[in-house]
Amino acid sequence: MSIASDSTERTTADVAVVARETARRRTFAIISHPDAGKTTLTEKLLLYAGMVNEAGMVRGRKNSRAATSDWMAMERERGISVTATALSFEFRGHRINLIDTPGHQDFSEDTYRVLNAADAAVMVLDAAKGIEAQTEKLFRVCADRRVPILTFINKLDRPGADPLECLSQIERMLGIAAAPVNWPVGVGREFHGVLDLATDVVQTYKPVPHGSLAVPTESAPLSEARGTLLTDEEADKLTDEADLIRTAGVPFDHANFLAGTQTPVFMGSALTNYGIEPFLNGFLALAPPPGPRPAVAGDVPPERPDFTGVVFKMQANLDPRHRDRIAFVRVCTGRFQRDMEVTVARTGEKFRVRRSVRLFGQERETVDAAFPGDVIGIVTSASLRLGDSLCEADPVRYTGRWSFPPERFAVVRCDDTGRRKQFAKGIEQLGQEGVVQILNDPTRSTLEPVLAAVGELQFDVVKFRLESEYGAKTAISPLPYLTAHWLSGPASALADPQVRGDVKIVYDHDGRSVLLAETDWALRMIKERNPDLAFDPNPPAGDA
Ligand code: G4P
Repeated sequence: MSIASDSTERTTADVAVVARETARRRTFAIISHPDAGKTTLTEKLLLYAGMVNEAGMVRGRKNSRAATSDWMAMERERGISVTATALSFEFRGHRINLIDTPGHQDFSEDTYRVLNAADAAVMVLDAAKGIEAQTEKLFRVCADRRVPILTFINKLDRPGADPLECLSQIERMLGIAAAPVNWPVGVGREFHGVLDLATDVVQTYKPVPHGSLAVPTESAPLSEARGTLLTDEEADKLTDEADLIRTAGVPFDHANFLAGTQTPVFMGSALTNYGIEPFLNGFLALAPPPGPRPAVAGDVPPERPDFTGVVFKMQANLDPRHRDRIAFVRVCTGRFQRDMEVTVARTGEKFRVRRSVRLFGQERETVDAAFPGDVIGIVTSASLRLGDSLCEADPVRYTGRWSFPPERFAVVRCDDTGRRKQFAKGIEQLGQEGVVQILNDPTRSTLEPVLAAVGELQFDVVKFRLESEYGAKTAISPLPYLTAHWLSGPASALADPQVRGDVKIVYDHDGRSVLLAETDWALRMIKERNPDLAFDPNPPAGDA
């Protein structure tokens, strides 16, 4: 056999492996309001997938991670999670990648970015609280992006749980249809099972202490459950409710779910494990495998043979013992292999990936190979930034949405002259990580950049990290601006915009002009004075 045909054979075999591995992957992120139960649900998914023997380990690890990490001390102090990594586990022939998201609405932007790496999202709602004000915006932008969303209505064991109201909020506030997959048997203290609306089979549960083990389950068609699994009263009520849902509600439609216009809704209680198994089964049946990814030159199908990936998160100094930078990459096509040489599409820079890892808190595990849908952490000194595309062969430039319109602005200043170099480096790196947006004000020294953020806590993270990681003590002073608009138009109009005292022109990392305005009225005046300019409140979509 000639060398050529041998190598062609190997390639064909390799293509088949990649296709098989791609098809069995399910990559998703959980979006939720803090305290809705994201951590508990994650734990229970791991329990039911057989990844942990007893629930409680994730939380335990979460705490030990915070305890051994330096700047994550802030997470511990405030009981919030700022960082996000990915969990990966095998379940019934599938590889499930769960990308973690931060647990505080001030860091919604991070969650929003993570969606660039996910093929689906799971939205967790507290059954008694529904869609809460602070996360409505986040949920809405996810819904607007048409990501396929599965909904888990949690805490049905709590008094005040109102699944009907949750359904109507999803439709009213997010503008997507809500199609219940199952319905609870009772709510609050009475909650002890779910009815599958497609098969009319009831599943009931018996409690286990602390919900630490899988719960004992019994199933029967609704018609046979009366008098055995359900009391007459429960059976009557459930029948009425199911009839109502079937007549008044939206039937589930898989195509609409994939198009992001309809969300299948599951009922349960992560604390007691009720409804977890149907949810996990439903997730496996419905969540899509890795699909085409948007790029500057059009969508790239996952079948493309060479490795490509997109950096959706950057994190420096994640572990004080390592003091390094990790770029989290979603593999989009091909097979990633440790030690391979990749090109950064934006700059043409090439580097060899010597260290590729999977992270679980402080633990790092070397990853030798990865396939579309997987998330790998690449430890590198290459000058990567959020949104960069990495390619093995011909460059692809993936696009993504990396930032929300900022709503808070401040100036950060380093008064310690001896630490200015470290300060400048810290600002550059935190900007690359997307901790805040860094804007340059030409009327100030470059050592006094403007910070633009969505939530106030982002400023605290900047201050905390500049001090703890770069040794630079800083002062952060708020600025009175309320909005930012990216300007575009003819070069002459951009070079000399007509402004006034209550607005300011600053520049983003690519030198684009950004107008900060104190009031809507001021913005309107500026628009009138500059008819040739376009004003966009959304930071430009990344095409790095
Ligand atoms: P998060 O990651 O979305 O922030 O929420 P997390 O899972 O940490 O849950 C927040 C609180 O809600 C926790 O209580 C948790 O035990 C509780 N919880 C989660 N799911 C359910 C549920 O289905 N029913 C009920 N009744 N409670 C639930 P905590 O007191 O804040 O923490 P802990 O002491 O239980 O750890």
